[in-house]
Amino acid sequence: MPMLSLFLFYLMGNPCEEDTADLCRELFFFCEFGGLCPILLVGGGYFIHELSCLCRIVRKFSSASSTADPLRPNTGPMAKDNSGSLKSESKRRRVTYIFSVSGLCVLFYILGAWQNSTTPTLNQRSDLASKVECDNDFPRSTESLSSSSSSSEGETLDFQAHHQLSFNDTLMVVEKFPPCALNFSEYTPCQDLTRCKKFARAMLAYRERHCPAQHELIRCLIPAPPKYKTPFKWPRSRDYAWYDNIPHRELSIEKAVQNWIQVEGDRFRFPGGGTMFPRGADVYIDDINALISLTDGDIRTAIDTGCGVASWGAYLLKRDIVTMSFAPRDTHEAQVQFALERGVPAMIGVMATQRLPYPARAFDMAHCSRCLIPWQDFDGLYLIEVDRVLRPGGYWILSGPPIRWKKYYGGWERTQEDLKQEQNSIEDVARRLCWKKVIEKGDLAIWQKPINHAECIQSRRIYKTPHICKNDDADAAWYRKMEACITPLPEVSSSSEVAGGELQKWPQRAFAVPPRISKGTIPGLTVKKFEDDNTVWKERIEYYKRIIPPLSQGRYRNVMDMNAYLGGFAAALMDYPIWVMNVVPANSDYDTLGVIYERGFIGTYQDWCEAFSTYPRTYDLIHASAIFSIYQDRCDITYILLEMDRLLRPEGTVIVRDTVDVLTKVQGIAERMRWKCKIMDHESGPFNPEKILFAVKTYWTAAPSTQQ
Ligand SMILES: *[C@@H]1O[C@H](CO)[C@@H](O)[C@H](O)[C@H]1NC(C)=O
Ligand SMILES: *[C@@H]1O[C@H](CO)[C@@H](O)[C@H](O)[C@H]1NC(C)=O
Repeated sequence: MPMLSLFLFYLMGNPCEEDTADLCRELFFFCEFGGLCPILLVGGGYFIHELSCLCRIVRKFSSASSTADPLRPNTGPMAKDNSGSLKSESKRRRVTYIFSVSGLCVLFYILGAWQNSTTPTLNQRSDLASKVECDNDFPRSTESLSSSSSSSEGETLDFQAHHQLSFNDTLMVVEKFPPCALNFSEYTPCQDLTRCKKFARAMLAYRERHCPAQHELIRCLIPAPPKYKTPFKWPRSRDYAWYDNIPHRELSIEKAVQNWIQVEGDRFRFPGGGTMFPRGADVYIDDINALISLTDGDIRTAIDTGCGVASWGAYLLKRDIVTMSFAPRDTHEAQVQFALERGVPAMIGVMATQRLPYPARAFDMAHCSRCLIPWQDFDGLYLIEVDRVLRPGGYWILSGPPIRWKKYYGGWERTQEDLKQEQNSIEDVARRLCWKKVIEKGDLAIWQKPINHAECIQSRRIYKTPHICKNDDADAAWYRKMEACITPLPEVSSSSEVAGGELQKWPQRAFAVPPRISKGTIPGLTVKKFEDDNTVWKERIEYYKRIIPPLSQGRYRNVMDMNAYLGGFAAALMDYPIWVMNVVPANSDYDTLGVIYERGFIGTYQDWCEAFSTYPRTYDLIHASAIFSIYQDRCDITYILLEMDRLLRPEGTVIVRDTVDVLTKVQGIAERMRWKCKIMDHESGPFNPEKILFAVKTYWTAAPSTQQ
């Protein structure tokens, strides 16, 4: 019993344990103002009152226990005799007893109070929190700061522990990443010109992705060329780029006649020409529009195989059509780099031995304008791949050899017989794929993929090859070999039904429930989840806009979402003058890239343990949601961050969403890469364990080279 009351005193002194709240409420007030003072200075009288009360209780307990104790000495007949002297003796003993008990009480109270004063108070907490932030360019959000300190009563221990951990982490940081040599300024790790020489030239396998092995990874920052300038704002950037940003004249000389690109003083001008459209892409697109309607919303997504400087995609944007353009990294230097510098979607890519990194049934339209892809070779393998990525009812547009060979064969330096043969082969492959030739007029030929395979399956009795693939995962496209078989379409119940479900017209399509979800083809993804996701993203974009005001002012053009899920981020931003590269991590639990295309947005598969197929400095804004918690067990997140630094333009912005412990790790590395960053609360408030890191890559360039 005495032990219990001593413990009670300990608790009184240490009132911040949650369960003793009632007993301690008053003392709590004093203890917040500094440990020991409440009893000794202010609450002396109060304390003595309490003390005597409690000590009386203690005494009662002890006397009760003493009468009940059968082993107690001095009980018995002998005790009666000298009761007088015994009485005064026991009174003295009781007084010392009371004193020693109250002494112990005080001691334990003080012990409790002292213990309490060593846990951090509110002030210390916000100190730690503000040390975690590094200096920043963002307006200081007082709202979130004040709410995070007022929240501390509820969240307390867990939150605080993470901050202390991070505080320790930041102390340990010493080394900053050095800049790489100037010759790395256009480094594309997975399309490195030296490494690719080791691979087969047959079918252009050497131009595919060949990423560096672990020991070849570099730990330096890709430098911008000297005198690098922020690119022009869209839409001016469609027509102009700074020469210093991509100092290559090759294309302007090589393609001078074709009017691709011109150098004018300190800048490039893109007149909008292309190999097959010297009068400009706009006129060329009008020619296409006269054959199939590009303006009624049926066509939204397009793929341009072998895109040049992507003028076709650049001018389609005017018609609300978004194009994934790709070209290999080859002797025409920097075609894709120019496209991205202009603010036009593009990737490094090639038709070689592997599938294109896009899902099946993705694009409304595919285009090749003198793209040098041998459509008739390898049993029509490349046309079969186009068939895979075209949606049912999608179009394939071909211009350049062999189309209109009767007029152009002289200029192409080929014999009529040869060109005729080539055209016949292509027509034959298209027929075997059950495509319908829509029209051939002027320089253009257009085919259409059937809306389902009902008839096509019948026709296999006539055409033995290519057969329909069996047990094929149609969407799987990350390092997956192409096969010369037709990717099957979802089954239909009538010959007029669109396989996989009909898409709505753009722009309703962006928020309509995508057929892949309404048909339940992705396990666990329901209509409700889709709609909730859209609501969530609306809120998030509102929040981002408040923290990054330039977001709504045209500051950003090329945006990457590293983990796009259902494309909600891109959809919420669709009215902004931006485009989003929606990335779905390869081999993730949900393959949602098909859904993103069905909504009318573009994207690609990607394994973030490897480099992305693009040039350095090609994105203005990178959004990384939960990327690091997904990948932290798979590879060193330092390399993911170095890759993000490569992708990011100087003064580009990064938004990372993750848990606090992951974010503090990310921040530690980001600061070594010279990013300025700041961790902020979740848009729903400070209680959400997910936080958001905002970062800005600082502007720096390589020193001008002295050797060259
Ligand atoms: C920081 O934390 C590590 C463990 O993460 C520990 O080994 C180290 O001693 C700590 N350093 C300081 C200064 O507290
Ligand atoms: C840059 O030059 C160094 C040495 O001259 C060489 O080792 C390195 O591979 C070059 N880097 C690139 C990307 O060419």
